[in-house]
Amino acid sequence: MSVTPPQHRIWWNERIEKVELIWIVIAFLWGVFMFCFMIAWHFIGQQNLNKEAYRIAPSNYNDKVEDFAKKYTVREEQGVPVVKPPAGVDVYLLGRLWQWWPILELEKGVSRRIHLSSVDWQHGSSLQPVNINIQVHPGYEHVITLTPTEAGEFAIICNEFCGIGHHTMTGKIYVTDRKQAATDQPVAQGR
Ligand code: CUA
Repeated sequence: MSVTPPQHRIWWNERIEKVELIWIVIAFLWGVFMFCFMIAWHFIGQQNLNKEAYRIAPSNYNDKVEDFAKKYTVREEQGVPVVKPPAGVDVYLLGRLWQWWPILELEKGVSRRIHLSSVDWQHGSSLQPVNINIQVHPGYEHVITLTPTEAGEFAIICNEFCGIGHHTMTGKIYVTDRKQAATDQPVAQGR
């Protein structure tokens, strides 16, 4: 059976059905309402953070994170430094193909300024299981003020497709209960 042309060849000039028009108007108005409501979600939602963002050069950011890791690394896990900065020190985390680096160790109840950026690609930082999601672009540094309320191990996954290794792009944050022990001296050598 061949495809036959519509009976009325100029079908797009026909009058639009009233019911269809009503639904188009409703969908359009709902879209406008949802767009304006984004502002309200900032206040009544629990996942839209107050954050600052700055324009930066990705290579500078990379240097900053490496300096930070060099200063406060306390141990390593499979070649990835576990970084435990003392209270009051800003925390740096970077996304790159394909990892969140370094592993962080923070203390429960201690408020932190956490800097977050990418050095190569757009990534989606998703902190699990609390489900805090931030789009990360190279060239923009986010600063989030965050106070861990629960001790444990948290995962960071990437939820923005970033290539062949996207599904392996993970990171980790430990939140500890105790105060920082005097034995946890940073090891600055060898990196
Ligand atoms: Cu990074 Cu997907």
